[in-house]
Amino acid sequence: MKDKKHLTLGIETSCDETAISVVADGREVLSNVISSQIEIFKNYGGVVPEIASRHHLENINGVLETALDDAKVTIDDIDLIGVTKGPGLVGALLMGVSTAKAIAFAAHKPIVGVHHLNGHISANYIQHPDLEPPFMALITSGGHTEIVKVDDYNKMEVLGGTRDDAVGECYDKVARVLGLGYPGGPKIDKVAKEGNRDAIHFKRVYLEKDSLDFSFSGLKTAVLNYLNSEKQAGREVNRADVAASFQEAVMEVVVRKAVDACVSLGEKKLVMAGGVAANSRLREMLTEECRKHKIELYYPSPILCTDNGAMIACAAYYQNLKQGEDDLDMDAYPYLEF
Ligand code: KG4
Ligand code: ZN
Repeated sequence: MKDKKHLTLGIETSCDETAISVVADGREVLSNVISSQIEIFKNYGGVVPEIASRHHLENINGVLETALDDAKVTIDDIDLIGVTKGPGLVGALLMGVSTAKAIAFAAHKPIVGVHHLNGHISANYIQHPDLEPPFMALITSGGHTEIVKVDDYNKMEVLGGTRDDAVGECYDKVARVLGLGYPGGPKIDKVAKEGNRDAIHFKRVYLEKDSLDFSFSGLKTAVLNYLNSEKQAGREVNRADVAASFQEAVMEVVVRKAVDACVSLGEKKLVMAGGVAANSRLREMLTEECRKHKIELYYPSPILCTDNGAMIACAAYYQNLKQGEDDLDMDAYPYLEF
């Protein structure tokens, strides 16, 4: 039993990870259990929503029990329940939201519904105990690519985002056509290390002057066209070169826009968040650019970059402090604005 510390149970089921964590005083992780469905979806080349929901249903009670056991607490010790309410796959979200509501109702606990992206940002509060808003955040994940001005724990403004594919989605699709498997992000990251990033020039898409929006669907098509034309010409493709050249075209744009956002608003702290924040080339390029512009760069450890319950618990803790709890009629919202 952890005396006096405020304990938040964080539940995350927005995509294919059933993840539950116990976090003390908002930032101290007591347990962080993640049941991934990656092995299942390798056979499909991507997440199948209906199958994901069913697996959440099968897994969630066991994950909850392990999260409580690992933290050496019981439900009675928990002070607050945080759950991802959106955006995400609706069936998957509902598994987490229903579980959170059932516990809240049965055990008389307050509940807070968290925006998934606020969760990703909050992973940095856990990683960096001294980090406080305001700062700029770059969120790159399987479903999102966003530059967000974070003024307070519960006050954020989206300055730009993708108009079509998210960065992670683009990585996953390109990895699939290269035959690298699922999930593609880490595979491209690894293979690209062996390749020449100047081998093929893929166009960098910056959109209108000063725009902080992104567009990656053209790049995905450009990779596909390149592969087809090489095949037709009977030439063998060097997958490492394609991966490295593709990665460079994506990350050059992402880095430029994230740093531009900081410079134009005089922001001296940049926080990376989301699954793609684990990308080694993105970290390398951002580290270099931030050094040049005297911007402090923050990113979470790989385990806190991908979907997890600890980041949701942390976000819920601060949201509860700032604006209080939610009602039990809270729902799951597949398309939730920031
Ligand atoms: O944040 P996340 O776990 O789930 C969403 O909220 O979408 O992000 C998953 C995405 C996948 O597209 C995966 O391929 C990508 O993050 N990813 C990476 C790397 N690790 C994961 N992309 C590029 N490089 C990586 N090292
Ligand atoms: Zn995520």
